[in-house]
Amino acid sequence: MRNTLSKTISFLRYLKHAKYRHGFSVHSPFAYQLITEVFEEETPYYIYKVLEERRKTLRKDKTLIDVTDYGTRPSGQRSISEIAKRSIKSKRYAQLLFRIANHFQPETVIELGTSLGITTAYLAKGTPKGQVHSLEGSSNLIKIAKETAKIAKASNVTFHEGNIDDILKKTLNPLKQVDFAFLDANHTGEATLRYFNILKEKATSYSVFVIDDIHASEDMEEAWNQIVKEKKVRVTFDFFTMGILFFNEELQKQDYIYNF
Ligand SMILES: C[S@@+](CC[C@H](N)C(=O)[O-])C[C@H]1O[C@@H](n2cnc3c(N)ncnc32)[C@H](O)[C@@H]1O
Repeated sequence: MRNTLSKTISFLRYLKHAKYRHGFSVHSPFAYQLITEVFEEETPYYIYKVLEERRKTLRKDKTLIDVTDYGTRPSGQRSISEIAKRSIKSKRYAQLLFRIANHFQPETVIELGTSLGITTAYLAKGTPKGQVHSLEGSSNLIKIAKETAKIAKASNVTFHEGNIDDILKKTLNPLKQVDFAFLDANHTGEATLRYFNILKEKATSYSVFVIDDIHASEDMEEAWNQIVKEKKVRVTFDFFTMGILFFNEELQKQDYIYNF
């Protein structure tokens, strides 16, 4: 993890370059449409209310559960409330992910890191005809995530339990392609690159990948910079807290630092 000074410098650097709000000075019709109709769309979808109620309930739940964490955090007992407050995507970003799924209607979605299943359910509701595969190491978290999916009436989710290092390839094997991937598990540069390289083998020209916490540490930032330079990656958006990648070969290479 970064120290506060390094974090502040990284955020100030982002702020200095971040722009394109409302699509200003964006020339690409693809990026303009994405910004104005997806990133900044303000429709109050019904599912927002359902899942934010669920988040509220989880934030109040002081029950302690044993969590096996194969990522950067130690395993041990944690309260559901603490996980709901600290470890999952905020309302704003979870709803952004819903809108991206809703816009592109991916058939196959992979989420690395389920946690309490809030983002999983947002993704599943965004693409009701798609199938979401969510991977998580902790069986206790999967139990809670299944309840979240039930409350959201999201029946198009399969939960895969185990260390992603061991189960990712097995999970992907029967899948023809990955249309949408959300990498939000082990937030180290090494793991991010390793997972990205495995997932990209199943990416098509229409795939969308989202990587969380791209500036959380210097090695995450390096991993992001390396991914942005990949030949297969055409258009990228740096939101600071996450990065979004498009593989569409018809698009001109462009990397946006977007002020969300
Ligand atoms: C940041 S949370 C995921 C939050 C979730 N995507 C959301 O927004 O609601 C990361 C999760 O990944 C899991 N995780 C981290 N590394 C893992 C690994 N190598 N294998 C399986 N699960 C892992 C942790 O147990 C944790 O629940």
